Amino acid sequence: MVDRIDTSNPPTVLPEAVLYNERLQAVIPGGAHTYAKGPDQWPESLAPVIERGSGCHVWDVDGREYIEYGMGLRAVALGHAWPSIVDAVSRAVANGLNFVRPAKLELTAAERFLGLFPHFDMVKFTKNGSDATTAAVKLARAVTGRDTIAFCRDHPFFSVDDWFIGAKPMPAGIPQAIRELTVTFPYNDLESLEQLFVNHPNKIAAIMLEAETMLTPEPGYLQAAIDCAHRHGALFILDEMITGFRWHERGAQYRHNIVPDLATFGKAIGNGVPISALVGKREFMERGGLRHDHERVFLLSTTHGAESIGLAALLAVIDDYEQLDVCSHLVTQGQKLAAAVTEVAADRGIGEHFGVAGHPSNLIFFTRDQDRQPSQPFRTLFMQEMVSRGVLAPSFVISYSHSDEDITRTVEAVTAALTVYERALNDGVESYLRGRPVQPVMRPRA
Ligand SMILES: Cc1ncc(COP(=O)(O)O)c(C=O)c1O
Repeated sequence: MVDRIDTSNPPTVLPEAVLYNERLQAVIPGGAHTYAKGPDQWPESLAPVIERGSGCHVWDVDGREYIEYGMGLRAVALGHAWPSIVDAVSRAVANGLNFVRPAKLELTAAERFLGLFPHFDMVKFTKNGSDATTAAVKLARAVTGRDTIAFCRDHPFFSVDDWFIGAKPMPAGIPQAIRELTVTFPYNDLESLEQLFVNHPNKIAAIMLEAETMLTPEPGYLQAAIDCAHRHGALFILDEMITGFRWHERGAQYRHNIVPDLATFGKAIGNGVPISALVGKREFMERGGLRHDHERVFLLSTTHGAESIGLAALLAVIDDYEQLDVCSHLVTQGQKLAAAVTEVAADRGIGEHFGVAGHPSNLIFFTRDQDRQPSQPFRTLFMQEMVSRGVLAPSFVISYSHSDEDITRTVEAVTAALTVYERALNDGVESYLRGRPVQPVMRPRA
């Protein structure tokens, strides 16, 4: 049992966190090993530094307890320190982690994971999602003999690697020649996709997109995009890093009844333990293998790619999903939260300025100013009021651990936060903000 989170007397500063953030920035560029967790993403003096977590609750260096949303950049779909994962990982550690030849566990995990995708034949596991998406890009280039990659520009992130970052607003260090090999297309717009292939004839190796984000696919769009790619000799790569094990354990491809050529998974498949996967049809994946006559592709081969912890976690996650109907629970809880928050905003007459959006298992919130323009200062204000009331909410991405009580407490915090938000809409946000506003992660200057 956890103690009730104290929402009375909200703090305006987290003194220990301020000191820790200074030290973090002194030794880690950006103050965090993942930019999206950086101090610039949080209200200035209310950027907690976490000590530990359990379920959907975390405790920070100031001794405060919070309900967490976002859950490790969406990786932790069951909950922190989830007992079956702790057990599975502990057993794996006790049996040794990395051997001179493949472990039996590698085969068990591969067969079990592929069992979720009857249309796929082969898998390579690795550690980060970026390893998997970049391997998919390499494979598509090798299979097609083409160099250009097209990704959907309405989808925020596919990789830390050059082929992707070179096309984003922070491309320093990436050679111009590499940047020129990436092109982009808008979501749900078949005409633009077709035009892209016309503009780059016989150049595009693959298109990469997510099945669904905040934007849902128009009826028939995903299949038509697959057909378009194939008509032009390109592969269709579906990135299921977020949708996998959140929309369904078989991915959004199952929900939308589509068959990509290659698909990439990560995040929730290990419930926070690092593991990701590239899955696909044999005709493509085998190029990374030994049973073919083509030029070989160096397709994912890292020291830790097959260590046992991630594989053990994956198997435990699949077991839990089979027993617990996790994705339905995520949807139910997300829907409750979305409905309650929407009602609070509507009651205050500010529903056009603050609201939630997205799939119930992957909710975000939008913050708009008095002119209904997207506003980082208002985002900061909302986060400031939530942090000080014991809720860490850079989004409303939930986990299986978010109980009705957690949602009720969150809605209490939202009610108080939107009272301040409403006043700020009338009086100006500056009078309520206690520090500089947050900024987008990807920007060319600090
Ligand atoms: C859709 C999507 N694809 C790929 C990635 C890259 O995964 P990783 O950060 O594990 O390298 C992310 C990470 O946020 C993502 O959201």
